[in-house]
Amino acid sequence: MLCLALLLAFTSLAPTTAQSTPATPTLREMADKNKFYVGAAVYTYHLSDPLHVETVKTQFNMMTPENEAKACELQKARGVFNFTKMDQLMDFAEQNNMVFRGHTLVWHSCTPNWFSNGKFSRDEAIQILRDHIMTVVGRYKGRIPIWDVVNEGIADGNGKMRVTPWQQMIGDDYIELAFRFAHEADPEALLFYNDYGAEGMNAKSDAIYNMVKDFKARGVPIDGVGLQAHLTLGDTRNGRGASPRIMGENIKRLGELGVQVQLTEVDIKHKGEPTEDILRQEAAEYRSVLQTCLDSGYCTAFIVWGVTDKYSWLRDSRFYDNPKVAPLLFDDHYQPKPAFTAILDLLARRAGEPPILSDDEVAILTGEKKPDSGAGAAAVPAPTKSDPAQLAPDSVAGAVYYAPFPVTITLDGETDDWTNVPRVTVDKGPTLPAGNDTSYQFAVTADDKKLYFLAEVKDSKLAYGTHNPASEWYLEDSVEFYLNTTGDLKLGEYKPGVVQIGILAANITKPDAPLIGGGNSDTSQVSVVAVKTEDGYRIEASVPLVTDAWKIVPAHMGVLGFQSHLNGSSADTRDTKLIWSAADTQDESWSNPSVFGQLVFWDKTK
Ligand code: G3I
Repeated sequence: MLCLALLLAFTSLAPTTAQSTPATPTLREMADKNKFYVGAAVYTYHLSDPLHVETVKTQFNMMTPENEAKACELQKARGVFNFTKMDQLMDFAEQNNMVFRGHTLVWHSCTPNWFSNGKFSRDEAIQILRDHIMTVVGRYKGRIPIWDVVNEGIADGNGKMRVTPWQQMIGDDYIELAFRFAHEADPEALLFYNDYGAEGMNAKSDAIYNMVKDFKARGVPIDGVGLQAHLTLGDTRNGRGASPRIMGENIKRLGELGVQVQLTEVDIKHKGEPTEDILRQEAAEYRSVLQTCLDSGYCTAFIVWGVTDKYSWLRDSRFYDNPKVAPLLFDDHYQPKPAFTAILDLLARRAGEPPILSDDEVAILTGEKKPDSGAGAAAVPAPTKSDPAQLAPDSVAGAVYYAPFPVTITLDGETDDWTNVPRVTVDKGPTLPAGNDTSYQFAVTADDKKLYFLAEVKDSKLAYGTHNPASEWYLEDSVEFYLNTTGDLKLGEYKPGVVQIGILAANITKPDAPLIGGGNSDTSQVSVVAVKTEDGYRIEASVPLVTDAWKIVPAHMGVLGFQSHLNGSSADTRDTKLIWSAADTQDESWSNPSVFGQLVFWDKTK
């Protein structure tokens, strides 16, 4: 850990800026006060942007090259190295007293073609590996104190060694050899193995743990593991890989092997527009991930994979399909986002500095308090009927649906028996094709035996019957109704009593048994009639009030968790996803009932 002590001393020489002390402390100041690293991936090209330069040097005490230290960039021809861009970044880091984290010496995704496409014997390939590492690490000896030696060497899913040109031509021991060569080139440098999708407890993280344990046992020089933490909104929720419990358990077991852990490429992707709600959830998840890192006692750096959303790799359609994605700490105009403030506040509080956020704001971020609760929040408005003939009040958009009872429905594809049952139009969601013309209305009612659902879908291009209903039903035209009958509306995972009933438009073909998909849907005993209509299709469905999974007793103002989605397909896959509940902005209802809305029974005789 000597190297780390040197590193910490190193960054205390933060640059003093001539400007007056900013009202809000910088991330760098709070990181320094925590003797902790907060870094960013930097790409040479962006150093021509003054705002980029200012943000990097004032907000971060560590930086890492996004691409410039990769073999495919440095050694495009065998034995011919071009360090121009790396030297520019190295100089920038030293001029601004920033710790430079080297990324990465060996990576299958950026290996020079002359090697990947070459045919080299094991000995030749080992020589090439050694020459590359000795040249690169040797050039920056004493200036780059941390290296990602090997990146992403473990395969996804099964924890086996990833098949790469290095692994093919040398064998599985190429990783050990790379670490030994790097140590030989700079014995003082801290040497890391780096990977994605290994934040939680899974086959890949198990394989990494076992490799580190083996290396430590055999004296192979390794000092740390980098968890990239390229996350998706929701990944820090209970039960998910980046949740405090699971990621904390993984960091702890690695730390107990005697290595550091660093979060090396943090960003949080999401679907659709970066709405206020998404940015707040993103802030909460950034804070959660940093908190888990800091609480572990083994995690020594938190590096975000870029500075401004504008230049994020995730804006490149080759890597992600949401041009509006906002995964980082600064927006397209370098304005700090809620995620920036959330982690700045956490670092300030841990350093004993004045907090940046109020306790209330922190409680909302950490989910201890609902943003819409508390004195000032708008309570659910008193029920009203826009038409006195309605059998139940108007719904509260995206939050509450009032379902009248008792109303008996005949599943015949006709809607005369649905008269005056309130209908809700849904035309918004995370996936809308250009010129979207798909929308639907739903209605729900009940009698003393059954709960009835109606969906009237407007869709000019129906596409169904082309996917395996058992597994990919949601990729073709279908309507979904969700129920949470457990009484616990905060439930964050599926249990008996929670059901996702996906009803395929393909039921129009009158199959012998209903074509149904979704979590626990096999327990729903659902009946379905589906008919084509002049502008789309209609679905009537019913479930018994009493099944092995639930006992629903309609009572005036009785509440169930409730949600509805529509999947639209115009050709061979889904191009439209509409969602009713405002709390589900990321298509999470399939795994997280806490984002459902509420169905409130309304006794029509009242
Ligand atoms: O600079 C060239 C440009 O001249 C050329 O016209 C253009 C044509 O595609 O390519 C440009 O290079 C691109 C390079 O980034 C610089 O922007 C490459 O195409 C592109 O593939 C490369 O993507 C990088 C990717 O790694 C692959 O190296 C991303 O920027 C970078 O964010 C990403 O980072 C990786 C980490 O290193 C490892 N962990 C995963 C992470 C995300 O994939």
